[in-house]
Amino acid sequence: MSDFDFGATVAVVTGGAGGIGRALGCRLAGEGCRVALVDRDQAATEAAAAGIEGAIALVADVGDRGAVQAMVDEVESRLGPIDIYCSNAGVAAGSGLGADDAWEVSWRVHGLAHVHAARAVVPGMTERGRGAFVVTASAAGLLMMMQSAPYTVTKHASVAIAEWLAVSFGGGGVQFHCVCPQGVRTPMVMRGAPISRDELEASGAIIEPEVVAEEVVAAIRDNRFLVLPHPEAHRYEQAKVADRDRWLAAMRRLANRVAG
Ligand SMILES: NC(=O)c1ccc[n+]([C@@H]2O[C@H](COP(=O)([O-])OP(=O)(O)OC[C@H]3O[C@@H](n4cnc5c(N)ncnc54)[C@H](O)[C@@H]3O)[C@@H](O)[C@H]2O)c1
Repeated sequence: MSDFDFGATVAVVTGGAGGIGRALGCRLAGEGCRVALVDRDQAATEAAAAGIEGAIALVADVGDRGAVQAMVDEVESRLGPIDIYCSNAGVAAGSGLGADDAWEVSWRVHGLAHVHAARAVVPGMTERGRGAFVVTASAAGLLMMMQSAPYTVTKHASVAIAEWLAVSFGGGGVQFHCVCPQGVRTPMVMRGAPISRDELEASGAIIEPEVVAEEVVAAIRDNRFLVLPHPEAHRYEQAKVADRDRWLAAMRRLANRVAG
């Protein structure tokens, strides 16, 4: 239990132009945070920030180490030290086994982006003895997105880096969180392939991004690492570790059902 004090804190949300990122920005602003939304597209990011009291919009490619450091420097000079960093940007790339470019972009955004961000903000959080670093992974990082190997594998990397950071730098007032939803009604899911709506619907309800944002705020307040907006994901993960062969057989059956 941390009882994290959100008042007058500075929060960065990447992937903030829409979906879960914009909902996180709204929710954190509602808690009293000064919010910086970061995304690739200037017009979309500015439009999202315009709907959030006091928010600023910045453009950066989160997969580029120099761009992340420059963005962090700009936020800190305009708003002050970063207390909450939501490393939330994500891509849906690569159907099936996926082409090389789908793997490359997925590694950059779901793997390296979290590393670049941690290098830029965790030392300051540690020095101040205060901070929350939030990685948006996915239930696919605990389980599987059957229709995309690049998404599944690189989201496992997101979970692993969040766990590694929590062990290496957690405690002493610095918190780490890993968000693992199943289906959420955002542009990524509504676009369809390779994130299959049929597969998501077969494995549970598609929830609103505001529900995810609410769960993230609750987890920061309680200092709880794993954020499961779909609680059943915990049961699915337990079934996986209890008997891998049985779990793989059940996943094959689900894959056949989704394929129709
Ligand atoms: N929607 C779901 O069902 C679902 C489920 C589990 C996890 N997630 C994860 O939630 C996060 C948010 O996704 P969303 O569902 O809101 O989708 P979304 O497509 O609305 O948002 C993702 C955002 O990330 C941005 N982005 C991608 N690459 C970037 C880069 N290199 N630099 C900066 N910004 C970049 C995109 O422009 C986009 O605005 C992602 O990490 C996604 O994988 C989504």
